[in-house]
Amino acid sequence: MSIFEGKRVAVVGGGSGIGRAVAEMALAQGADVFISSRDTAKLKRVAENKVGMTVLPLDMTHETSRAAWADQLGPIDHLVISASSAAHGAFSDLEEDALRAMFDAKFFGPYLTAKAALPHLRDGGSITFFSGVLSRRPGRNCSGLGAVNGAVESLTYGLALELGPRFRVNCVSPGMIRSDAYAAVPEAAREEMYAATGESLPLGRVGTVDEAAQAALFLMANTFTSGHVLDVDGGHMIRQYATR
Ligand SMILES: NC(=O)c1ccc[n+]([C@@H]2O[C@H](COP(=O)([O-])OP(=O)(O)OC[C@H]3O[C@@H](n4cnc5c(N)ncnc54)[C@H](OP(=O)(O)O)[C@@H]3O)[C@@H](O)[C@H]2O)c1
Repeated sequence: MSIFEGKRVAVVGGGSGIGRAVAEMALAQGADVFISSRDTAKLKRVAENKVGMTVLPLDMTHETSRAAWADQLGPIDHLVISASSAAHGAFSDLEEDALRAMFDAKFFGPYLTAKAALPHLRDGGSITFFSGVLSRRPGRNCSGLGAVNGAVESLTYGLALELGPRFRVNCVSPGMIRSDAYAAVPEAAREEMYAATGESLPLGRVGTVDEAAQAALFLMANTFTSGHVLDVDGGHMIRQYATR
């Protein structure tokens, strides 16, 4: 019997990319899964014909939406928050509004969503956040995104200490993953970006959503792991320094 049998798993960001893969893997292993994000029509398409997958709309950046979501949620064993938005731009160019919106979506949203879900988390439950490699291996024109990832990782450590031993708190830090996050990039440019990043990595390629999702499943399942940031990045942390 799978350890997810009979467990209730909420995946915020479960309508696309890595979150969708997490939701589908947890469902396949016997969990009841609740998928959330802002686009209800998209979530319904994902949940169509999937027994055990329920759609619960949520905009993490709105208090009323978080409260309504938490009211409908009921008891859960695991909360995974992969939802985010990313803003890129040179330090001198990136507009303050874009930077603040990213912190709202990727830091304050997950922070306050976890807080809203906490009364529903059963003893022994877990929270899994998502950061990204830029927190510790910066890229040019990504200082803001790196900073928000760092904030999410720091939150993970602090909450793991504060919420233990009742709950575990961890974080997945993906490197570049082929996902819906890049859907707006024209295909040729997208493939070029994947190839260029892949070439720079020890594993010679970018990752898949399933590879990133497996890390979240591990962090949910392993009952002696807390306060951990798990890199799933093809070796991005040890890649060769760029020559200038
Ligand atoms: N893919 C990569 O290469 C990569 C690299 C490093 C880190 N990461 C991190 O890994 C995580 C998952 O990435 P991904 O590739 O799966 O991204 P994705 O496919 O773009 O999924 C992000 C999801 O967030 C939801 N979302 C955005 N704002 C929201 C809000 N305010 N409230 C609720 N939902 C919201 C979006 O759905 P709606 O539009 O329906 O709300 C979307 O489904 C993110 O934290 C990302 O920063 C990804």
